[in-house]
Amino acid sequence: MSDHAVVYAPSAEFIAQANVKGMEGYRELYAAADADPEKFWSEFAASSVDWAEPWTQVLDWSNPPFAKWFVGAKLNVAHNCLDRHLSTSRKDKIAILFEGEPGDSRAITYAELHKLVSRFANVLKGRGLKQGDRAIIYMPMIPEAAVAMLACARLGIIHSVVFGGFSAEALKTRIQDLGAQLVITADGGWRRAKEVKLKPAVDEAVLDCPTIQNVIVYQRTNSGAAMTEGRDHWWHELEAGVSDDCPAEPFDSETPLYVLYTSGTTGKPKGILHTSGGYLTQAMASMKWVFDLKESDIYWCSADIGWVTGHSYVVYGPLASGATVLMYEGTPDTPTFARWWQVIEKYKVTIFYTSPTAIRALIRQGDQFPNAHDLSSLRLLGSVGEPINPAAWEWYYKTIGKSKCPIVDTWWQTETGTIMISPLPGAVPAKPGSGTLPLPGVQAEVVDLKGHPVERGKEGYLIIRKPWPSMLRTLWGDPERFKEAYWSKFPGIYFTGDAARQDEDGYFWVLGRVDDVMNVSGHRLSTMEIESALVRHPAVAEAAVVGKPHEITGQAVCCFVTLKKGDHDVDALGKELRQWVAHEIGAFARPEEIRFTEAMPKTRSGKIMRRLLREIVTSHTVAGDVTTLEDMNVITSLAAAQQDED
Ligand code: PRX
Repeated sequence: MSDHAVVYAPSAEFIAQANVKGMEGYRELYAAADADPEKFWSEFAASSVDWAEPWTQVLDWSNPPFAKWFVGAKLNVAHNCLDRHLSTSRKDKIAILFEGEPGDSRAITYAELHKLVSRFANVLKGRGLKQGDRAIIYMPMIPEAAVAMLACARLGIIHSVVFGGFSAEALKTRIQDLGAQLVITADGGWRRAKEVKLKPAVDEAVLDCPTIQNVIVYQRTNSGAAMTEGRDHWWHELEAGVSDDCPAEPFDSETPLYVLYTSGTTGKPKGILHTSGGYLTQAMASMKWVFDLKESDIYWCSADIGWVTGHSYVVYGPLASGATVLMYEGTPDTPTFARWWQVIEKYKVTIFYTSPTAIRALIRQGDQFPNAHDLSSLRLLGSVGEPINPAAWEWYYKTIGKSKCPIVDTWWQTETGTIMISPLPGAVPAKPGSGTLPLPGVQAEVVDLKGHPVERGKEGYLIIRKPWPSMLRTLWGDPERFKEAYWSKFPGIYFTGDAARQDEDGYFWVLGRVDDVMNVSGHRLSTMEIESALVRHPAVAEAAVVGKPHEITGQAVCCFVTLKKGDHDVDALGKELRQWVAHEIGAFARPEEIRFTEAMPKTRSGKIMRRLLREIVTSHTVAGDVTTLEDMNVITSLAAAQQDED
């Protein structure tokens, strides 16, 4: 399919105004980074980030895979996102435009955001929090989520945002793993015209979390919350009378900024650790190159703050770059499927970044919704989280972008911190479904099981050969798993877990995961995590979970379950198990299908043959062109090959 793909080159008009102009512009930048990565990154870092002290070494890779970037340098990430803009014309520029689901709105300037963050940082200081402490943020998509993150960054407190859709159980395991001292939450948020309460889940979770000393609750929905004396505090009460002067102390470049949990191949989520200087540098680089950011842009990334996209491309990248960021609290379907298009029209959004799942769900509703709104402010569109099928790409390009906005299909991961493969919109012609070429400074390759590059056109494993500034530094509390999970398959080289191929133009086509990780609506789910949840149910003897191709969500969770002996009402039990998984992990992990089976196919050594199960669920080709049968077969055989090796 890649060989005959239609090519969409950027218009002369777009190229003329682009931050990186034409293929020559891209090639020049890529070649400079390739020839001397340290020089390249040091120049970019020096010109874009505000450092309190310079580095003595750009990269320390003497103890791989533990990288240090900008060794000895000092900076404060919140200062870079806020304070430094205050001495420029950005002081009164809008930093955050907020649209709540009920239709309430706010416009917060950089000067105002600086005050909100400083005041909340003083609240945290007042509760005794200090550098190196850990705070969990469990909030709806409201500006205070960003305020909480930036206040932590200002004080060197490591934050871990837990997506509001996770259950109390999932929240608890993350608090415990991190040994967090504080939870920052809200009474609730608005979603699909209903209040989604958050505080009750926190109450349930912290029962088993003795390290938690404080819970701070922002009042969003005003529906009240049970408050435990001494432990729980209302945000607005703590803030009353607190000074908004809170100096941003410089920290070492390698100071941990956040831990973000993501699903791995075992039942236990991995705490991905990102640090400060390198992360911010590369986040800013991608804002400039991929989003072609200009002073006048109104930039909207629809990702929730609970995922890495919400970290790098709602908060840190755009704010450090002085952008106006739009945040929307709700879903695209409430009150109607025109909601997003209405928001774009209302705020004259120029750059819009969303997921293929959302695009496919919106396509299904018909063109009357976007067509009823003026989308002419848009100049650039983006996609992230999963492969985008060509039909969805074309619709996005024509119906939303009116055939004048380039689309950046951005491939990256929680671990990579920032975008690794994507067209630069004024430079690299797009082919629908391909992330095209790696960004300057990224050495991506497709290799075979021995780590040798495969020929163009052949499938293999996607790796990144050299360290990059925004790479994860380790897994929280588990350096051995960090080495094992990413650096052992191809010794010394970062393995992404994805299968890919490069076409004759060197364009990358990412096919999907080759490990036991599913991608549902662009969210990573571990088959093992769901299996562990299922076998905790008293009726379940054994469970095997595989991803099944799905027209809208890319993949859906399909569970094979064997039951313990006894009389079972399988219809009722099917429903109960779906609910059980939602309770154990979160509603977004609810299985699409539970199939009861007498026995699991197993190898002689007793391992469940997931390959067979995958073949069973993928052998009926899905409608549409979400995933072609051919591609599924490729992934399945690559996955099997690598599992036979393990
Ligand atoms: O399989 C790839 C897929 O999502 C995985 C990373 O998931 P996560 O860490 O949750 O981060 C999602 C947001 C960055 C990758 O290993 N993936 C992500 N973006 C794309 C993609 N697959 C194809 N095309 C993409 N643009």
